[in-house]
Amino acid sequence: MSTDRRDESARTGIAERYHLSKQHFWLHGPRTGPQVEFEAGMWNVYGYPEVHEIFGDPATFSSDTMRVIPEHLLPDGEDFSLKGFITQIDPPEHGKLRKLVSSAFTRKIVADLEPRIASLTHQLLDAARERGRFELVTDLAYPLPVIVIAELLGVPSSDRALFKKWADGLFERDSKVSLAEPAEGLDAERDAAMEATLKPWREMTSYLAAHAAERRRQPRADLLTRLVEAEVDGEKLPDDQVVNFAIVLLLAGHITTTMLLGNTVLCLDAFPEEQARVRADRSTVPAVIEESLRFLTPFAALGRATTREVELGGVTIPADQLLMIWLGAANRDPRQFRDPEVFDPRRDPNPHLGFGRGIHFCLGAPLARLEGRVALDILLDRFDTLRTDPDDPVVLMPAPTMTGVRRLALL
Ligand code: HEM
Repeated sequence: MSTDRRDESARTGIAERYHLSKQHFWLHGPRTGPQVEFEAGMWNVYGYPEVHEIFGDPATFSSDTMRVIPEHLLPDGEDFSLKGFITQIDPPEHGKLRKLVSSAFTRKIVADLEPRIASLTHQLLDAARERGRFELVTDLAYPLPVIVIAELLGVPSSDRALFKKWADGLFERDSKVSLAEPAEGLDAERDAAMEATLKPWREMTSYLAAHAAERRRQPRADLLTRLVEAEVDGEKLPDDQVVNFAIVLLLAGHITTTMLLGNTVLCLDAFPEEQARVRADRSTVPAVIEESLRFLTPFAALGRATTREVELGGVTIPADQLLMIWLGAANRDPRQFRDPEVFDPRRDPNPHLGFGRGIHFCLGAPLARLEGRVALDILLDRFDTLRTDPDDPVVLMPAPTMTGVRRLALL
């Protein structure tokens, strides 16, 4: 990219160009305020070195965030608990669970999926061509990863409308959470929101529990069976842990990669010089995927809880506080990335935090990268140009903690 074009793309700004919401504040230019800030009852961390420090110290920055969320913000009832979810567990239990699930969900299992991912991508694109229109999310970015993870787990991919309903119920919230709201006054609204979360949760748990129980009786060649049978140092996963991990895979296995595919095509639309470059040299597809994870970070925020008083970015944070760590903002910190507002796949190294870092580093990263690479390669083969339709504007998911395309019509 010439310096002029680089400047022009950066000046136009992706947020202005696609009219993106102010809630996704990290897409609206570099931050000028403090890197660590108390707001709405929690500590927000925006800077790259500060976020890096958090990932490196799980003893101080615990993943068990539920214990610091006030009771009035948690759903009532015994059927909702994040206890036992791998993303919420701290050492030493985390290490044990991670070893067990990693023994079932290996790199080899993922690598062997490549031909299936390619043939599914072609099938989905053929179907879209027959329908005569192409909306990237509905036609490819959503169904592809869902079918892949369902087949891998061993649950019927034909149930995917059900999975979508559950994922939407859990993630499609459009407002920021606040711990600062009073406990009184918002009861009816809050109860309705809780019920909207609990219902899909209950349904998903009983659906996967039934499938896991079936695998105990009748093992099959699928990941659920491997999870049921996985054993490390003579220990197996208890039933509820099998179900919890299957829920994480089913949710993480589809919404995130859907975002990655949509976001990557959006980046190539916004930066046509980069589209031309990757067309000319396909060996750069993996670098395009990595830069897309930095530039439009799918999981834009994660939670942590302090276990002791700690100094971070020059600020003293007391013990037992909730932290929101804004990966989306850290990935655009000019102290770490030169010209952070520019989509530049030639960054080398590109130490983005899109998959997290440290002991909780995304277990599905090899699968997400593989799906991204295979699907993008095929899209580039089958479309002479990937361009969004100006008459059918791009829509982003409303949740402020996520950056993901919800609708992207191609010309
Ligand atoms: C963890 C992002 C795809 C499974 C994480 C974390 C991030 C992340 C940021 C760290 C969470 C934390 O530190 O609290 C993403 C992104 C994806 C993606 C951006 C796609 C572009 C997937 C896929 C799967 C998956 C496809 C599985 C099929 C997991 C699991 C963990 C995790 C199991 C928890 C690991 C642990 O706690 O030890 N992911 N993910 N992810 N991800 Fe992903």
